Amino acid sequence: MKRKVTMVVVVVVLYFIVLIASSKVFSLSKDASVNKELTFDEKLEMLGNINKKVRYFKNDFIDRYIAYKQKHPNLSNDSVVTEVNIGLDQEFYTNIKKSNNLNTTYVLVNKFNYLDEDFVPNKLETIDIKYSLGEKKLVNVARISFEFLAKKASENGYNIRAVSTYRSYDYQTTLYNNYVKNDGVNNADKYSARPGFSEHQTGLAVDVDNVSTDYMHFENTNEFQWMQDNAYKYGFILRYPKDKEYITGYTYEPWHYRYVGVEIASIIHKSNLTYEEYYIKYINKF
Ligand code: DAL
Ligand code: ZN
Repeated sequence: MKRKVTMVVVVVVLYFIVLIASSKVFSLSKDASVNKELTFDEKLEMLGNINKKVRYFKNDFIDRYIAYKQKHPNLSNDSVVTEVNIGLDQEFYTNIKKSNNLNTTYVLVNKFNYLDEDFVPNKLETIDIKYSLGEKKLVNVARISFEFLAKKASENGYNIRAVSTYRSYDYQTTLYNNYVKNDGVNNADKYSARPGFSEHQTGLAVDVDNVSTDYMHFENTNEFQWMQDNAYKYGFILRYPKDKEYITGYTYEPWHYRYVGVEIASIIHKSNLTYEEYYIKYINKF
């Protein structure tokens, strides 16, 4: 009888040992399958096979897309690809590269794309003093278009004046360093480009006021409303729109306009894209 009881106990203990061991093995193999490296096709599937739908999908960036998607699960797959291509999965001012398409009206200069210290645009010309505060220069086509815009505005009773246009690398250095001195790096970086990273150095950007109000308060003027409705017709876009700081890297600047030509400006006006998004989708398609 005693032997029988011992046998039963041994069997029960063995049963539990086997049970515990097998559940351990099962859970290990489950972990392994979760962690196992996904194939390229599986990764594509996680992104809804968007590579077949967009021209700007970059195979080399697949792991960055997946990581960005995991961090921002509510973003559409298209936005994941666009934002990673812009570089937004990295900190601003990291992974920087030299701007290409220099001396074109569609050059992109931002916190990931910079101009050399010695870059000076071709064909800088002085704006008619009627439409500027002192001697201010823009690249030929932007200068002509800005004068045309300001003339039309003036005929309709609006005063648009250029207060800051082309800025050399050295001048941007002085500006930026002063902002840093007075306000600290973190604040300065929200509203001022570091030297080499300002699109004012392209000769295609212009800050405006309405003559009687400081440019910082331009948003509250009728001229701002006129610019909202008309700037694109002359090839200018509001470059740093409200609520797009996470893309452009800058707080809202109602006074800063960028010449990109009428065709691009019209598309951006209609679509509400930032210039970064437009550039990735339509210019730098890889
Ligand atoms: N304020 C703009 C971002 C610049 O410094 O170029
Ligand atoms: Zn500006």
